[in-house]
Amino acid sequence: MAKILLLNGSAHQNGCTATALQEMISVFEKENVETELIQIGNKQIRGCIGCGFCKKNGRCVFNGDLVNEVAEKLEHADGLVVGSPVYYASPNGTVISFMDRLFYSTSYSKQMKVGAAVVSCRRGGNTASFDVLNKYFTISGMPVASSTYWNQVHGFSAEDVKKDLEGLQTMRNLARNMAFMIKAFDMAKSTMGLPEMEREFFTSFPDGK
Ligand SMILES: Cc1cc2nc3c(=O)[nH]c(=O)nc-3n(C[C@H](O)[C@H](O)[C@H](O)COP(=O)(O)O)c2cc1C
Repeated sequence: MAKILLLNGSAHQNGCTATALQEMISVFEKENVETELIQIGNKQIRGCIGCGFCKKNGRCVFNGDLVNEVAEKLEHADGLVVGSPVYYASPNGTVISFMDRLFYSTSYSKQMKVGAAVVSCRRGGNTASFDVLNKYFTISGMPVASSTYWNQVHGFSAEDVKKDLEGLQTMRNLARNMAFMIKAFDMAKSTMGLPEMEREFFTSFPDGK
């Protein structure tokens, strides 16, 4: 059975972001896709320090704040949804710290795992935050699921988001597209395998200066 991890980057377990993610989960259940919702926004999650420990050891040097636990789960998952509230027109600090460390510390291939970013703001900054989160997927060979609008809801409380009917519709359509992509990729992988991925070059400035 296909499995999708969903990260709630908000400290509010039943807030706006959670409401959007729950709307997706209700579709995944109908589509027979297993889900695991992981609450990260209420944890103390420090940022990456670029120490290089993960390159030698395959895991982040900092334990106990879910990054290494989620890394293990992601290796076996088919898709990842990251949900974040918007703070000053960006994903919140917890989500950025978490995603930097999760993506930098995992050396296994994430190629063709499907990614989706979901953002929630009261009024402005959703699309800028959406861009930031999609970049973790698009540097990792992960196809990005899309919907009938950018993956966003609006509200200050869960009750507001429940009134954002188009936002919730966007979440349902996103979940349907994501489930379809995961099932289609699974069929394609069983007949064609994965596309070749070159890793030979790692240049900063071509003249070496
Ligand atoms: C520190 C902070 C900064 C915020 N910045 C913005 C912002 O830039 N734009 C906006 O529309 N809402 C902003 N908000 C409101 C939240 O993004 C919004 O209420 C969100 O939907 C809350 O989601 P949650 O219930 O999942 O935490 C901010 C809230 C906080 C606490």
